[in-house]
Amino acid sequence: MTQPKKLFIKTYGCQMNVYDSERMAEAMGGQGYVQTDRPEDADMILLNTCHIREKAAEKVYSELGRYKGLKSDRPDLKIGVAGCVAQAEGEEIMRRQPLVDLVVGPQSYHRLPDLMARTSNGAKALDTDFPEEDKFEHLKSRPKAKRGPTAFLTVQEGCDKFCAFCVVPYTRGAEVSRPADRVLDEARDLVERGVREITLLGQNVNGYHGHEKGLAGLIRELAKIDGLARIRFTTSHPNDMDDDLIAAHGDCDKLMPYLHLPVQAGSDKILKRMNRQHTAEQYLRLIERLRAARPDLHMSGDFIVGFPEETEEDFQGTLDLIAAVEYGSAFSFKYSERPGTPAAERPQVPEAEKDDRLQRLQALLTRQQRALQDAMVGRELGVLFEKPGRMPGQMVGKSDYLHAVHVAAEGLVPGDLRRVRIVESGPNSLKGVLA
Ligand code: SAH
Ligand code: SF4
Ligand code: F3S
Repeated sequence: MTQPKKLFIKTYGCQMNVYDSERMAEAMGGQGYVQTDRPEDADMILLNTCHIREKAAEKVYSELGRYKGLKSDRPDLKIGVAGCVAQAEGEEIMRRQPLVDLVVGPQSYHRLPDLMARTSNGAKALDTDFPEEDKFEHLKSRPKAKRGPTAFLTVQEGCDKFCAFCVVPYTRGAEVSRPADRVLDEARDLVERGVREITLLGQNVNGYHGHEKGLAGLIRELAKIDGLARIRFTTSHPNDMDDDLIAAHGDCDKLMPYLHLPVQAGSDKILKRMNRQHTAEQYLRLIERLRAARPDLHMSGDFIVGFPEETEEDFQGTLDLIAAVEYGSAFSFKYSERPGTPAAERPQVPEAEKDDRLQRLQALLTRQQRALQDAMVGRELGVLFEKPGRMPGQMVGKSDYLHAVHVAAEGLVPGDLRRVRIVESGPNSLKGVLA
């Protein structure tokens, strides 16, 4: 019997890349490849990359540099670059790093097996098209193997918003929604294989229009699937948060009380220059409406500090907005100039200023997150257990609000959804006992 070929995939960037990596591995599985976590054993190395900030893109080139030795030992090793750097810099990657055999963008990876075949005689293959056809219709049906309790499921891709700092509209293309019946089929299939929580993914997931009633319509259909216990979605844009989706947070039990709703900044001047198309006040009013529907909703956000022409006063506006919202979790970044985006051409904030603002912003966010987490002590929460913890006999799971929760108890297995009384709050997680 011939040995199966081995595929090593390294994934950078957002959750959609995690989903795409699974689908690419499945596509190569159809060609007889099995996954390995050791690049030195691989017949094919695939980097699924992210272009969102300069550092993310540079990581790809330094990782490729590390494979030089492997490739000179084994010339038949194939090296591929997928994802958003592939889309943005396809030709450039081939020039800068001659050991790359194959480049494939996020909208054309259903063609990965064909592209691989083209490299067999030493040729190079590049595909960064935005094809008319839906890649999901061309991918293999998903394997029937048992899965862990949580899964991502892409329902929408691309972005038409063109925030002045962001590469995503260029790397992922225009907004496209998958038809609801296809999403529901995939969800039912995931549940049959052991999944109990599904996170719907999209660059603008709440702009989903594959169901006549939008994302709320899709969520209500998903909620009817027996065995599916929890539904989440990410990432949303404030302007696409419609009345029905707000209402769903109040009346759909399976929709978890956690919402990632990035605002980026709190000064109207900066929001305007970012082309976010809303004011700070509108964002705050929206959160009031969401919390009227679901009072315990935990908010999460993304923030950029040091956007071009951001003054100290503008930055104070961001701190004020954060103080008003009280975030349960948040991600914050220094503005990074991205070639081809409008903001890259504007007067930049000095690096030292960005560092200082990021520190102050993160100090505030950390205090808020910790306060909300500490407030869980003494409460009873739902926890979906995912895997064994580091201590013997311990299991780790996620609360409804997405906190990591550790519980030591006999007989718990991944996929169990139990009520847990929280007894302790640590730096990054909670500890509890079965209620
Ligand atoms: N589609 C999502 C997120 C896209 S990228 C949304 O619209 O919210 C994830 C986050 O990266 C963004 O929310 C933003 O905070 C950050 N980001 C994007 N471009 C950036 C840049 N040029 N510099 C710094 N942070 C950036
Ligand atoms: Fe980027 Fe803005 Fe689109 Fe989000 S909404 S992906 S930040 S352009
Ligand atoms: Fe990065 Fe592309 Fe996701 S740029 S954040 S991998 S959409």
